[in-house]
Amino acid sequence: MDLSADNSPAASAGEVAARAAALRAEIARHDHAYYVLDAPTIPDAEYDRLFRELQAIEQVHPALRSADSPTQRVGGKPLAQFAAVRHRIPMLSIRTETDTEASGAFVFDSRVRSALKRNDEDPPIEYAAELKFDGLAISLRYEDGVLVQAATRGDGETGEDVTANVRTVKAIPLRLRGEAPPVLEIRGEVYMRRDDFERLNTRQADAGDKTFVNPRNAAAGSIRQLDPSIAARRPLSFFAYGLGDTGEWTPPATHAEVLDVIAAFGLPVCEHRAVVQGAQGLADFHARMGALRDTLPFDIDGVVYKVNSRALQQQLGFVTREPRWAVAHKYPAQEAVTLLRDIEVQVGRTGALTPVARLEPVFVGGVTVTNATLHNQDEIDRKDVRIGDWVIVRRAGDVIPEVVAPVLERRSGEPPRFVLLERFPTCPVCGSHVVRGEDEAVARCTGGLFCPAQRKQALLHFAGRRAMDIEGLGDKLVDQLVDAAIVKTPVDLYRLGVLALANLERMGEKSAQNLLMAIEKSRSTTLARFIFALGIRNVGEATARDLARHFGNLDALVAADVDALQQVPDVGPIVAQCIADFFGEPHNREVIEQLRAAGVQWAEGEPQGTVAGALAGKTFVLTGTLPTLSRDEAKALIEARGGKVAGSVSKKTHYVIAGAEAGSKLDKAQALGLAILDEDGLRALLNETDTNA
Ligand code: IVH
Repeated sequence: MDLSADNSPAASAGEVAARAAALRAEIARHDHAYYVLDAPTIPDAEYDRLFRELQAIEQVHPALRSADSPTQRVGGKPLAQFAAVRHRIPMLSIRTETDTEASGAFVFDSRVRSALKRNDEDPPIEYAAELKFDGLAISLRYEDGVLVQAATRGDGETGEDVTANVRTVKAIPLRLRGEAPPVLEIRGEVYMRRDDFERLNTRQADAGDKTFVNPRNAAAGSIRQLDPSIAARRPLSFFAYGLGDTGEWTPPATHAEVLDVIAAFGLPVCEHRAVVQGAQGLADFHARMGALRDTLPFDIDGVVYKVNSRALQQQLGFVTREPRWAVAHKYPAQEAVTLLRDIEVQVGRTGALTPVARLEPVFVGGVTVTNATLHNQDEIDRKDVRIGDWVIVRRAGDVIPEVVAPVLERRSGEPPRFVLLERFPTCPVCGSHVVRGEDEAVARCTGGLFCPAQRKQALLHFAGRRAMDIEGLGDKLVDQLVDAAIVKTPVDLYRLGVLALANLERMGEKSAQNLLMAIEKSRSTTLARFIFALGIRNVGEATARDLARHFGNLDALVAADVDALQQVPDVGPIVAQCIADFFGEPHNREVIEQLRAAGVQWAEGEPQGTVAGALAGKTFVLTGTLPTLSRDEAKALIEARGGKVAGSVSKKTHYVIAGAEAGSKLDKAQALGLAILDEDGLRALLNETDTNA
């Protein structure tokens, strides 16, 4: 039914209004499914159709354009400044436990216990534990279920009215779901996901606009943007974590239930939360989330503990602006500022010259960092990093530390720009020319395997744990072997004798024997490992596995042309060309023949067509703690059979593997009627697929 046109006399004013209301509700439902539950319910085209129908009705009947209409998310003119908003209930800050070890949890718990006059015999305190999101605090005011105001924290008493910008955040409902109280203020954090941040920065750079240093700055900058139409183009997200003014309404008795109710009202509440008992429960949560930190799609800088009972919260009260019932327990900072002393280059396996920042040593992400990657010339230009700058260095988890941005306020004078090709017209390792192809981000040494750096990297890659797995062949040894011209290609490894080795520095006869044994052991391998070990550009472990499965034996792979290669799942034209180029090089075919002659062998199988494993195309989500398998192990087992492991549950998920303390992912899986397995179930599925894989 399309009631938008003027010339539909059959539609009474009441019918049109009802249709508009129905469309608003339906669109809001789809927004909730998409932005809050991450489980889209209709195709985009269908959504667009509903949206356009509503727009058309409102065009003809402007009176129906209500504040909670999804068409009204973006609107309003640029502001000259933000109006001040006085918070009816102050927005508190939170005490920070700077001790990043487990003891931080014990210190907080003992403070709470002594304030409550509990002694050692009394039962443990119950806490609600959640993540500390790294964004910007916002208070949302709903009146009769409709979002009427959004304000920043400001000094806690008075913030800024950022309603127009906040309305553009799709995860924030313009109208609460269900029976809403007359007044309800919901507090939480506006943040930007890391992938959204990367995409935004790429877009900004492409448009010649300024890029952001980190997701937090991007989120804060977007919310404090005076032009709502710009804010609307910034991909913002939101997590609710508490309440402000609740008017006449009495919230539930515990914080955990408060969050449940907030979620039921349709706001996003992070699934990573738990109710725990006592200090040990807090410490366990801190450790668990610490392990999860780098896999989350957004930044956190710690966790937050709150006394679960609201009655006890009241009893504990505040000191200055900080509640005694809550604390933030941090993780080691992932960013620090230090001096950029120089920029050098590292020559990789494929000859790529990677600029490397030499830094004044700085403690970040739990270790002392002296080098950080600058990726390539474009990145140096984009970030405008210059030698002598003070720079922000980031080290998240186990990834290579990187230079994020210069601190421009601390730059003195106008140091020259760094131009890699000027500073390194020739390879610092072998002296060959350095070139940078058109449309290529990286500069490369043209020396090929003549370049010792490339030879060394190729050997290290060949010997790596996921390739031929030659234990003990590390970079020191490879340096010595290549520098002494004992080893040039991988074949030379299989011709090594004890004598040549034992004469190397720091290498006795015993270690020489051990290495030879490891080399001997590597002679029998799998086809997938062998293909990966060759170090073909753009052929990682997964592609190597797919190639092995698809072709079954090496000769078929060597003989395959670009078209045949593209029959392999996930192999596109670029990868196919890299593979064909590699095997087209007589020198490479020769090395392979020599390796075979030297006794390197692998089991060859029948080609298995395009089915990349028995679980190909199946998506899994892991939640909770499994009795014996770690998350990584379970993931590896699934991926080894071609399955994919995703981070969140949606309609597209095939299996949810649930362990102890599975949280909202499990609830969602049940709600969506998905297949849910425990560890035994997973093992059964894996065994079943093993017999026909
Ligand atoms: S509760 C009762 N919970 O941390 C204290 N705050 O100083 C009210 N934050 O900028 C805050 N995640 O925006 C609370 N799960 C969380 C949080 C959180 C991040 C931020 C908050 C504020 C600061 C507290």
